[in-house]
Amino acid sequence: MHLQDTPSRYGLISRALHWGMALLFLAQFASAAAHWALPRENALRETLWSYHVDLGITLFILVLLRGVWGFINLQRRPEHSGAIGAAAQAGHVVLYALMVIVPGTRILAAAGSDRGLSYFGMTIFPARESEIAWMQAPSEFHGELGWILALIVLGHIAMAVGWHHLWRRDGALQRMTS
Ligand code: HEM
Ligand code: HEM
Repeated sequence: MHLQDTPSRYGLISRALHWGMALLFLAQFASAAAHWALPRENALRETLWSYHVDLGITLFILVLLRGVWGFINLQRRPEHSGAIGAAAQAGHVVLYALMVIVPGTRILAAAGSDRGLSYFGMTIFPARESEIAWMQAPSEFHGELGWILALIVLGHIAMAVGWHHLWRRDGALQRMTS
């Protein structure tokens, strides 16, 4: 098994990032769903919500690493040909963009806030005396964009499993699994 990608399959590092992040995203959406659906005093909501910020920052760091690794491997990654291939690639670009923008809006807001930001107890941004308004503005859309990301992920899973694996049986799923 190669560490790097090849034209026929994703390598070990791309797979570790893809499947590791898929699991972490599941936990992050569970935390968001609990925040949305359960009342404030609910113990499950508190538990699931308690890791939202630390996990969100972790996902932000991982997607940047994944982007760099994808870029280094750009010339040898599995290719996508034809109109459907171009649509798949566009879908992946949208996934990447939202994986950066969704946590990015909240991290930006925290950087310009009077509460600051800690990551596993380490101060990343100290509290400011006053908030910077333009840095808060994009975070208004954090939740909505997060749910749009969740929907696109569902579409992505349906395409990978339903379209490629069960319907076309073209081996696209195996490029990421075996
Ligand atoms: C990829 C990472 C992330 C995803 C997918 C995500 C997703 C979401 C979603 C879907 C909601 C809406 C929950 C609801 O409807 O009640 C939400 C809320 C929230 N998230 Fe995140 N989040 C991420 C990262 C972060 C980070 C890094 C922070 C803080 C630095 C953060 C702070 C918050 C806060 C304070 C809320 C509640 C207020 C609001 O809806 O904007 N999130 N998140
Ligand atoms: C059960 C869950 C999932 C399955 C079965 C799955 C399946 C796949 C497959 C088969 C590929 C390769 C597609 C190709 O070469 O055309 C792929 C690529 C990709 N997947 Fe997933 N995926 C899942 C979850 C996720 C999640 C949760 C995310 C992001 C939040 C994600 C983001 C991506 C991206 C951006 C690519 C492009 C390749 C890369 O840069 O890593 N996937 N996925």
